[in-house]
Amino acid sequence: MISLSTNKLNTSLDKILEQDKTDLLIIGHYKNAKLNYNNIDSMIEKSIANALKIEKFDGDIGKKVLIYGSNSISRILFYGLGDKIKCSNEILRVEAANICNYSKSLGIKSFCVDVDSFASNDFDAQALLEGFYIGSYVYKSHRTSNDKNEVDSMSMNIISSKISSIKDINFKAESLSLGVSLSRDLGNEPANICTPTYLSEIAKKIADSKNMSAKVYDVSDFEKMKLGSFYGVAKGAKEPAKMIIVNYQGGAKNEPPIALIGKGLTFDTGGISLKPPAKMDEMKFDMCGGAAVLGIMKAVSLLQPRLNIIFGIGSTENMPGSQAMRPGDIVKAYNGKTIEVLNTDAEGRLVLADVLSYVNDKFSPKCMIDFATLTGAVIVALGHRATGIMGNSTEMVKDLQKSSSRTGEKIWELPLWSEYSEDIKSKYADIKNIGSGGAGTITAGSFLKEFVNETPWCHLDIAGTAWGTKATGYNPKFGATGVTVRLIYDYLENSLDN
Ligand code: BES
Ligand code: ZN
Ligand code: ZN
Repeated sequence: MISLSTNKLNTSLDKILEQDKTDLLIIGHYKNAKLNYNNIDSMIEKSIANALKIEKFDGDIGKKVLIYGSNSISRILFYGLGDKIKCSNEILRVEAANICNYSKSLGIKSFCVDVDSFASNDFDAQALLEGFYIGSYVYKSHRTSNDKNEVDSMSMNIISSKISSIKDINFKAESLSLGVSLSRDLGNEPANICTPTYLSEIAKKIADSKNMSAKVYDVSDFEKMKLGSFYGVAKGAKEPAKMIIVNYQGGAKNEPPIALIGKGLTFDTGGISLKPPAKMDEMKFDMCGGAAVLGIMKAVSLLQPRLNIIFGIGSTENMPGSQAMRPGDIVKAYNGKTIEVLNTDAEGRLVLADVLSYVNDKFSPKCMIDFATLTGAVIVALGHRATGIMGNSTEMVKDLQKSSSRTGEKIWELPLWSEYSEDIKSKYADIKNIGSGGAGTITAGSFLKEFVNETPWCHLDIAGTAWGTKATGYNPKFGATGVTVRLIYDYLENSLDN
């Protein structure tokens, strides 16, 4: 799943070298900073100074000088980080990933990072290590002939004498990255493998962890559970749909939970309102909201925050066929609202309507966040650079924006003014599943708002960011990104302090 694992963690290079040799020692260097020889044998000190002089190395961002060393340290990489004052934690994340890819291209199997040369506080150290882990991700593809030269696993040694909690920081960075990698893996798996049943098995496995329990509802229960809106989508698919609920009790017994809800469409053909063929293969990614929830669940299972959380995923395929829902059909959601289905391709909101209102009713959460590849329109608005966020609570949006700037996962708010709710009123039912008058992302958000009552809630439309983003730094060259896993863990962690 993840190709990088931590081997050793120590305060000095000497201590690591007592037991092991390293293929590559990595040293970060800020512009105009004094060169750091702390960890280096005086024997090669001179040749380093020479090499840096010849290469006119001054710490410009991204600039590299590779030096060949002794037996115990085969190579030393000096890596430019630019001006220290301009170096955000996001730059550290990106550059760590770039270094990781460079090491991979050298065929390196084991490297050693001098954390103190990059980071002077816990926050930056975590970002740096996240960059190494997340940037090293490779999807273990289904190709039967792999390139023999490809490095598929590397081990990292970490040295730091200045960051006293480096062990905990490394555990957190590694746990979050395992969540991101799981989310990416699930997104990348094709729909004939990654079915609703497959997702439910993953959830059950994670829920074997301390303080967690899983309950999976089958499509055969949906009608009697009054999940009529979800059932409308699910009944067209032969592959059985599942509603997955995982309860995490890490906090006090009477503390209301935070609910995290994901759209888990393992394939979206559009149903009777069939999508055009171009890029339809990409609709295997329509479960990335559910994969984000599972990624967060994985990180929570490892990090065990002192919180209560309900994880909910509505998972099904959206298929055409004689059993499929028709345009014009009217379905009734769990909260009693009737919905006229004018386009069977606007199915994600039908699934989420039931999961949101079911979780809200059964668990009385203190707040809810949903994750969904909900609209193509969000790509028109924000491209592949930012996730669209909407909600009924300015406080929650603000808190998520703070998490966004801490984690580098960009979000941008779109308004959910009450006027937009006019655009989803139906002639035949309470509401219709498509809006009139443009603003496709906002009318989808307004639709979801009908199913959360007064509970503080935010909706994250990840259709532009869950896959197909630029391969910069820690984003993969292709496929699923695992977006929002780190963002939401940061939000959860900070909600502990409030
Ligand atoms: N899963 C799609 C949204 C989507 C489309 C994500 C393209 C990523 C790329 C969703 O179920 C959908 O089909 N939405 C429709 C809604 C429309 C019919 C109102 C859309 O966005 O076109
Ligand atoms: Zn659709
Ligand atoms: Zn969809």
